[in-house]
Amino acid sequence: MTEMPLLEIDDLAVNIGNEPLLSGINLTVAPGEIHVVFGPNGSGKSSLIKTIMGIPPYRVTSGDIRFEGKSILDFPIDARARLGIGLAFQQPPPVRDVSLSALGKALEIDTDRIAAEAARLGMTGHLNRGLNDGFSGGEQKRSELLQLLLQRPQLVLLDEPESGVDVDSLKLLRSVIEQLFQRDRPIRERTVGGIIVTHTGAILEHLHATRGYVLVNGKFMCSGAPLDIFDQISANGFGNCLAEARIKEKIHDFLKE
Ligand SMILES: Nc1ncnc2c1ncn2[C@@H]1O[C@H](COP(=O)(O)OP(=O)(O)O)[C@@H](O)[C@H]1O
Ligand SMILES: [Mg+2]
Repeated sequence: MTEMPLLEIDDLAVNIGNEPLLSGINLTVAPGEIHVVFGPNGSGKSSLIKTIMGIPPYRVTSGDIRFEGKSILDFPIDARARLGIGLAFQQPPPVRDVSLSALGKALEIDTDRIAAEAARLGMTGHLNRGLNDGFSGGEQKRSELLQLLLQRPQLVLLDEPESGVDVDSLKLLRSVIEQLFQRDRPIRERTVGGIIVTHTGAILEHLHATRGYVLVNGKFMCSGAPLDIFDQISANGFGNCLAEARIKEKIHDFLKE
């Protein structure tokens, strides 16, 4: 029996205004799968994640994004969230008028659960502050994961969840990420899948992620086993992938002529 994929990205191209940003992106995420996106700064990783969530100003110029078989391109952000898509931002925007507890209540989550999840993430003292209003880097990361724990999305999008986090917090974040992806359940019973953007191997160690990709200049290059790709990048930087990208572009240009 083939299972319906959670997410299908089909030959996607994205612009900001008239500037091309992403092109030829293909990615399928089935329940239980975690796909990992690596890549140099500015290659378009956050833009890809935000495009899936429907956040402006990213404009899809061709291709499709489907959630459980249905195109979501015309769906606004809140509709995508209601479908079960959740995003932890790399740099979450401050929202001064909304607190974490207000957000939890809006999601109709009982206060005991909000309190318990907040305690687990060390956010008890921050529940009534404006969201990300003066949160430290670590607090922002924990707040983002807390929101996902409350939302329980089926498609989890994590944009550099570990960046700027100290070693002790990293352990905590890892266990929360494992929980979000139902790593405590047998593989066949997992219903959640997602994408993680990362620069470090630390959160990948126990996740058994499915596949990794290197995004270079808005295109996927060098896909493979996530930890192999991570090792390759750690040893050689992005140089090999950049070289591969240049060769592919030359072949592309040659075929066009
Ligand atoms: N809202 C925006 N307006 C203008 N340019 C943007 C916007 N978002 C991203 N970009 C540009 O798109 C490129 C990719 O950015 P980003 O997706 O954040 O890269 P990454 O996450 O891989 O570091 C960068 O050159 C960035 O400046
Ligand atoms: Mg980014």
